[in-house]
Amino acid sequence: MQKRNQKFKNSLQMVLLRLKDRVTLKKVELYWEGEKEILPADKKNPGYLLASNTRLPLEQLPQYLEKKLGNREKATVKIIERGSTVKLELLPGDVKMEITTQDEPSTHENSPEPGTRQNFIRSGEAGELLKTLGIMTPDGKIKADMRRKFFQVDRFVELIDELIENGPLKEKLTVLDCGCGKSYLSFVLNYWLTEKKRLPCKIIGIDDNPEVIASSQKIQQQLGYHNMEFRQEKILDFQSSAPVDMVLSLHACDTATDEALALGLHLSSSYIIAVPCCQAALHGKIDFHPWEGICKHNIFQNRLADVFTDGLRVAALEARNYRVSVVEYVSPLETPKNIMLRASRGYPQPGARTNYQQLKAKVRGTVPLENFLKTLEHGKKS
Ligand SMILES: C[S@@+](CC[C@H](N)C(=O)[O-])C[C@H]1O[C@@H](n2cnc3c(N)ncnc32)[C@H](O)[C@@H]1O
Repeated sequence: MQKRNQKFKNSLQMVLLRLKDRVTLKKVELYWEGEKEILPADKKNPGYLLASNTRLPLEQLPQYLEKKLGNREKATVKIIERGSTVKLELLPGDVKMEITTQDEPSTHENSPEPGTRQNFIRSGEAGELLKTLGIMTPDGKIKADMRRKFFQVDRFVELIDELIENGPLKEKLTVLDCGCGKSYLSFVLNYWLTEKKRLPCKIIGIDDNPEVIASSQKIQQQLGYHNMEFRQEKILDFQSSAPVDMVLSLHACDTATDEALALGLHLSSSYIIAVPCCQAALHGKIDFHPWEGICKHNIFQNRLADVFTDGLRVAALEARNYRVSVVEYVSPLETPKNIMLRASRGYPQPGARTNYQQLKAKVRGTVPLENFLKTLEHGKKS
């Protein structure tokens, strides 16, 4: 039993390491001798489960499970994430682990089975939108090659909704989607806010590619979404006489993520939400010398540079009184570019400016976001 329990603990640690900071965790289910216990994820506090009126940090799950199941001959633990389930089966003398991924049902009028992924945007209800966007086939199925895109956009909208629900802006919202591309995110967000949530909003999409803007304008007309506007424009050229409450960017390439972050800061937007595509901004500016023994492997150096780039972006936002949460908004199986930075204005943190200054001093030359901010400031003055 002791050997089995140790193996169980090790497997669990492995799963938890993967889950750390992941907002995709839905719940943990325990089954033993005909009994069942469900520990739902605490939506407001990623990294916690709700267990009999207490909040259980994920790190303490192994101890909790050992106490509950350690002396049972057989038991099952299911760790259910959006899109995948890890099943750990405790058997006499052994532990079996099984990972399954679920497909998205095209409609879900019935409650899904535990572990079945349920989209935030109900595809059965949003048929007209999804068909017009080319995400759904005429007979109501999500197209195989659009599943990933739909899932990412759906998660993005779900996490925006969470921010709005917990934030001060609940009456009218102006949203700017930077590098909107074909604007799947903007359209699905508009559908959610106006048709489902009944929250008046204006959504502006900008992109420097004229073709995607023309295609977005055509879809906008087809859908009759008069509160949306699409402009062929560079992010740094954006001008607005009215306040912009939320600045978004999803996989905006090259320097566009930093441009969008800088624009959000420049506009003092209440929310800035970015899923970076390229984190190469600081490559060549970081002194990896102290880490030569590790960075002799290029892949390690590249990953470190990615972390430093996103870390500095977060520190820059924090230094300007934003509270930032960093989450894996979808599983890396959906896209390796799965880090989302969600920033809300109005949360000064002691030491945040000093922290940022100290971090900046460790980077050779200037940080791209700062340069873009200067450009925007300069434009404002001239
Ligand atoms: C990878 S696509 C992502 C599109 C969309 N956000 C999505 O997730 O489907 C990146 C888009 O950013 C646009 N883009 C890149 N740099 C830009 C800039 N400086 N100003 C405006 N648009 C830009 C590109 O034209 C492209 O359409």
